[in-house]
Amino acid sequence: MQLAILASGGGSNFTSILDKIDAGLLDANVALLVTDQPNAGCVQTAQARGIPFQVLPATPGQARETYDAALLELVKSVNPDLVVLAGFMRILTTTFIEPFAGRVINIHPALLPKHKGAHGVRDTFASGDERAGATTHFVTAELDGGPIILQASVPIAPEDHVRSLQAKVLKVEHWLLPRTIQLIREGRVGRDGTVAPGESWKHHPIPSAQWPDGF
Ligand code: GRF
Repeated sequence: MQLAILASGGGSNFTSILDKIDAGLLDANVALLVTDQPNAGCVQTAQARGIPFQVLPATPGQARETYDAALLELVKSVNPDLVVLAGFMRILTTTFIEPFAGRVINIHPALLPKHKGAHGVRDTFASGDERAGATTHFVTAELDGGPIILQASVPIAPEDHVRSLQAKVLKVEHWLLPRTIQLIREGRVGRDGTVAPGESWKHHPIPSAQWPDGF
């Protein structure tokens, strides 16, 4: 399965995908990394690990559709089976989403449908919820509103603060996202996000002591 990964930040989710591929836990190949941030950590990772990458910064005042048309051309050039948003901090329009309908997934750092938007962990913490978590979902025109695939949660401890919670949630993301890709690779995920029987991670509470190293 050929992957195009879109990322904007440190790229720890991008790294976790590469690590799971190297470990033989994910049967996929990263054909291209695209970032909108020239100085993002994911670029250094791509360079260090020999992954093809393209930097596509947005220009001031540029319409989202114009950016997305350029992004579409770039991504289409590698003909990916799946497009993975791994901390890509731009809202995509239908210009990009429709040609890849059903083949774009995202990782969100909260338990959707709660806490949509750019501050999932902060909003979870502020809400007084007992648990935080992460969600993988198909991308549709509705922000963070597409069909949920996998979801896992961790308890919020009394001593937690936003940063400690971010670290916990990121750790969950690092296996939730590669696992989701592998399930898609195995043909076990329906267009509505339904996972074929046998997967125990859907809406699953994960005690921190049981975070798996692999799958
Ligand atoms: C993750 O928390 C992701 O869910 C969010 O942005 C963060 C990216 O982290 N959208 P990284 O760049 O993969 O380290």
